[in-house]
Amino acid sequence: MDLGIKGKVALVAASSKGIGKAIAFALADEGVNLSIFSRSKEEIERTASEIRTRFPVDVLASTADVTNKEQVDRVIEETVKTLGGIDILINNAGGPPFGFFEDFESPDWQSALELNLLSGIYLAKKIVPLMKQKSWGRIVNITSIAVKQPIDGLILSNTSRAGLIGFSKTLSNELAEYNILVNNICPGRIYTDRIKALAEKRAAQANIKYEKAIEEMEKDIPLQRIGTPEELAALACFLASEKASYMTGTTIQVDGGLLRGLF
Ligand SMILES: NC(=O)c1ccc[n+]([C@@H]2O[C@H](COP(=O)([O-])OP(=O)(O)OC[C@H]3O[C@@H](n4cnc5c(N)ncnc54)[C@H](OP(=O)(O)O)[C@@H]3O)[C@@H](O)[C@H]2O)c1
Repeated sequence: MDLGIKGKVALVAASSKGIGKAIAFALADEGVNLSIFSRSKEEIERTASEIRTRFPVDVLASTADVTNKEQVDRVIEETVKTLGGIDILINNAGGPPFGFFEDFESPDWQSALELNLLSGIYLAKKIVPLMKQKSWGRIVNITSIAVKQPIDGLILSNTSRAGLIGFSKTLSNELAEYNILVNNICPGRIYTDRIKALAEKRAAQANIKYEKAIEEMEKDIPLQRIGTPEELAALACFLASEKASYMTGTTIQVDGGLLRGLF
């Protein structure tokens, strides 16, 4: 299926590794020009050169922290100057630390809100005017299954991401008249460094091997395995496309059936 986005420009935040990187690859495969960024210069440059080797698209790679407004402003300015605008925003970031209520103090809460809520709001604030000019835009937020079913030991993530869902649902209503669509994707367990770190932590806590911890994490997933970043990227690419033209304000999990609720 031709998704109808060849030649468009996507800004993919936090995209040197994992889910963000897989989404950048999927968009490049559709002929979308890319602006990608993360904090590590070496990692983002490596990812950019992998994409350039495989796909005939323009790739701008920048170093920026998604919570640093000046750095984000610079990425947006350079993207507009180099690639001519931004049609698609993939709002992604790292995840906050694992832990329980007693483990965290005010600065931890502030950091989590900046990472997984305020950064997405800031990116949207700066990029929506560019989309409005073209009467076309797609915003895809990468959140977590935690927005549908909070995860034990991830209180910072559970809290900050819930706010993003309220924000994006409201935004989707406000932007519908401009043909700017806003949707959320909830990863369940996707095999990236983030899930590897969680498995290592669980292995250490339970004094079991890493492989055993991964097996334990697969047990309660109906599809009996952890997903791949590419499986999630396929949905992100669709939601970012022309073909998703009647979808906005949705929150969809990619979780192998892990969520046991109806929605
Ligand atoms: N994997 C899962 O199963 C899963 C499940 C639920 C939710 N999620 C969420 O999905 C998102 C992506 O997860 P992932 O598994 O792909 O993580 P990952 O493999 O650890 O990759 C995170 C990416 O984000 C970049 N990054 C981290 N903090 C950043 C910051 N402050 N500014 C800019 N870039 C930043 C990292 O690059 P640098 O280090 O170079 O900055 C890296 O490219 C996270 O919010 C995660 O919590 C993932």
